[in-house]
Amino acid sequence: MRGPQLAGLFGKPVQLAHGGSTVANEDYLRESILNPTAKVVAGYQPVMPTFKGQIGEDDLLQLISYIKTLQPAAAAAAGAAGGNPGGMP
Ligand code: HEM
Repeated sequence: MRGPQLAGLFGKPVQLAHGGSTVANEDYLRESILNPTAKVVAGYQPVMPTFKGQIGEDDLLQLISYIKTLQPAAAAAAGAAGGNPGGMP
């Protein structure tokens, strides 16, 4: 794996490579796609290419909404099974 897991990322705190942390909101996802080296995730190298100039505003908004829908595999499986282990009621 080259990059961090995007599933379950939205709304979570992110530890940054140069110290401090941020929250993975829409603005952070947008910046991470257009200017990935602005906030590098702790534990990763800044190897992600910029998608600035390659992706239009509509596609960017769609990517951001898609990332928001991604859940970790375990949560997705639990949801599919109708279970809710350890989740909020
Ligand atoms: C459409 C394509 C891509 C999207 C939407 C995307 C999105 C993201 C996002 C949202 C983050 C921040 C993750 C976090 O806070 O946990 C991230 C980080 C990262 N991505 Fe990507 N990425 C893409 C393509 C790539 C590619 C092609 C590579 C490598 C060749 C890559 C490598 C990385 C790495 C190493 C990081 C962590 C370091 C950093 O924060 O810059 N990504 N990516």
